[in-house]
Amino acid sequence: MRTTVGIIGAGPAGLLLARLLHNAGIDSVVLESRDRAYVEQRQRAGILEQGTVDVLRAAGAGARMDREGLRHDGIELRFADQRHRVDFPELTGGRSVMVYAQTEVCKDLIALQLKEGGPLLFEAEALAVEDADTERPRVRFRHEGTEGVLECDYVVGCDGFWGVARKAVPASLSRVFERTYPFGWLGILADVPPSHDELVYARHDRGFALLSMRSTSVSRLYLQVPDGTDADEWDDEAVWAELDRRFETADGWRLRRGPITQKSVTPMRSFVHEPMRHGRLFLAGDAAHIVPPTGAKGLNLAVGDVVTFARALVHRKETGSAELLDAYSETCLRRVWQAERFSYDMTTLLHRAPDATPFDDRLQLARLSRIATSRAAETDLAEAYTGFPLH
Ligand code: FAD
Ligand code: DHB
Repeated sequence: MRTTVGIIGAGPAGLLLARLLHNAGIDSVVLESRDRAYVEQRQRAGILEQGTVDVLRAAGAGARMDREGLRHDGIELRFADQRHRVDFPELTGGRSVMVYAQTEVCKDLIALQLKEGGPLLFEAEALAVEDADTERPRVRFRHEGTEGVLECDYVVGCDGFWGVARKAVPASLSRVFERTYPFGWLGILADVPPSHDELVYARHDRGFALLSMRSTSVSRLYLQVPDGTDADEWDDEAVWAELDRRFETADGWRLRRGPITQKSVTPMRSFVHEPMRHGRLFLAGDAAHIVPPTGAKGLNLAVGDVVTFARALVHRKETGSAELLDAYSETCLRRVWQAERFSYDMTTLLHRAPDATPFDDRLQLARLSRIATSRAAETDLAEAYTGFPLH
């Protein structure tokens, strides 16, 4: 098989890239190791930055998002029994975010790709990227029990943190920057209308909690749990009781309960692989970088990377210049490191480390109080949360 751009992975990065290339008249083939149902149901991100919303609309993938997504103009920070609302449009000159789940973004992009785009092969596992530093990179893969080779002009590794693409960069040229955290998130989906109309990020002495949503009738909630926690250790009553404690306020706010339909634990990690390009292999999204989820940045970074790649390739096609392709890694990494910084700040602002001292607790409260009382500090959060410009 032969194509211009071989895309490994049909998460948000790979699917959006295939769509952007299709719109620009560039052919691609997407290889995805899992089946369609798995990709469409994997519960992950929920928040789209303004820039991501704009990209999806411009790509012709925004119709259902515009009908069913929920525009959010702020978040609530909850700490020391207080509630503080951060008003995004007011602080950022009109920017907001959209609550529209990653599962829905993927469903929309898959439907478009199957209807209008190039080949998208499910249960097609990439085994290795070969000859990345030549004019003819190749992807070896296994599909329906047989091995095949996809010959490409370019390969984009959109295969997430556990994928194979990153391994094709020689160790002597790679640098990894990494940090792990001694806690994770227990996430639940519950069939109950959200208890608040905006997201609530709560800092509590017992640990962090987050109230989010998937729609006006489905709540998504997260609890900080110790590293290595098994979701089965938590029965439903224990989850609700812990959420009640962590969201507690002085004004008697109540959390609504409903049947829990899903429960899982996500570990936390900060990770950046540099460079994001080796020859004609480009890494995008979680294949190149991971952020802890507290800042809601992972999916949005993946979108930024593939927009940068698509623009660079179109530029190459239109002008013959490889200048933007050559600058891909540097261009993406500027934005990536800002998101790493913000995600780290939000994580350390709101979570309680197991070895936290009273001094650490007071510092956290002082940082939160600074955001609640200084327009400059609050604006810094609002600008980062609603998203850094794509370029
Ligand atoms: P992925 O979504 O991981 O997709 C990679 C794809 O490649 C997968 O489909 C995988 O099956 C496939 N693949 C892997 N190996 C191979 C192979 N060898 N061959 C073929 N295919 C392969 N981000 C936000 O922006 N906002 C949020 O609110 C947010 N919340 C989150 C909450 C949680 C609990 C978690 C876990 C993540 C959250 N994220 C959030 C992060 C976000 O989900 C990820 O950053 C995003 O999925 C990255 O997209 P991707 O396409 O790069 O990678
Ligand atoms: C969701 C996830 C996040 O990491 C976040 O910061 C906000 C919302 C969510 O899944 O809804």
